[in-house]
Amino acid sequence: MNSIKEYIELIEKAVKASVPETKGHLEGISDMLFYSLESGGKRIRPLLCLEFASCCGGEAEKALDYAVAVEYIHTYSLVHDDLPCMDDDDYRRGKPSSHKKYGEANALLAGDALLTHAFDILASSALSAEQNIRAVKELSSLAGVNGMIGGQYIDLAYENRNADADVLFTMDALKTAALIEAACVLGCIAANADEGKISNARKFALNLGLAFQITDDILDFISEEKSSDEIKGKSTYTSIFGLEKAKEIAAEYTEKAISALEFFGENANEIRLIAEQLLNRNN
Ligand code: IPE
Ligand code: IPE
Ligand code: MG
Ligand code: MG
Ligand code: MG
Repeated sequence: MNSIKEYIELIEKAVKASVPETKGHLEGISDMLFYSLESGGKRIRPLLCLEFASCCGGEAEKALDYAVAVEYIHTYSLVHDDLPCMDDDDYRRGKPSSHKKYGEANALLAGDALLTHAFDILASSALSAEQNIRAVKELSSLAGVNGMIGGQYIDLAYENRNADADVLFTMDALKTAALIEAACVLGCIAANADEGKISNARKFALNLGLAFQITDDILDFISEEKSSDEIKGKSTYTSIFGLEKAKEIAAEYTEKAISALEFFGENANEIRLIAEQLLNRNN
């Protein structure tokens, strides 16, 4: 079994190698894409994609294009999420956010370019045409209106307005868990996994994704600086239920995620470890 560290190294190389080449007057575009794709992110989604491919009996390397495509979608979502019209964050991973560095219009284009190129990467993968089409279908629907975009829409709709438990659940399931689901399912597809495995991967991803977003909100809540979420009056598990209850809920979802891995037996050992580490992370 490949170690997590080796997978991350593979991902780092592949992410950089997939930036579209641009020449002449267009050179500035790839700089903007590199800027947002650069190391600093945890690469959790591509890692899960490779882990699921391997857990389902496939070769992780063969899932690398799928893993990178998901990271492109994630990166675009962050570039747009930071824009003044959304969360209005000046910093991302300790560096000026894309619009602070390149201006708003260029950040919008950089996000668009990352989104578009993700599907080019999937369509160009060396896996079978059938696998690639299924990957396109899963990623586009999980990142779309009934997935990540829908979740971001709810997030904005509940600024300065308290969400109830049902809204919070739907918002986090869509804005965060859906893309994590895409990562896990694309890993399964790359390994030609059967529907039983895919459905357990989905169950894992939903619960892990919820725990992941709640933990993100907790880290934001306990950080020393006043966050843009507070300024914008966002509805989160911490703002609605308080810190201690939010921590309990995150731990419960992590347990549920780990239970969904029982189906995979020992093959899921590394994924179990990742789920535990994500709950206890500090960034
Ligand atoms: C941040 O995601 C946005 C959320 C969905 C919570 P990550 O915490 O995975 O961001 P990076 O890529 O590691 O910076
Ligand atoms: C991000 O949620 C979700 C997506 C980008 C889809 P947040 O707005 O909480 O992410 P951070 O805290 O800015 O990374
Ligand atoms: Mg946001
Ligand atoms: Mg944000
Ligand atoms: Mg956040």
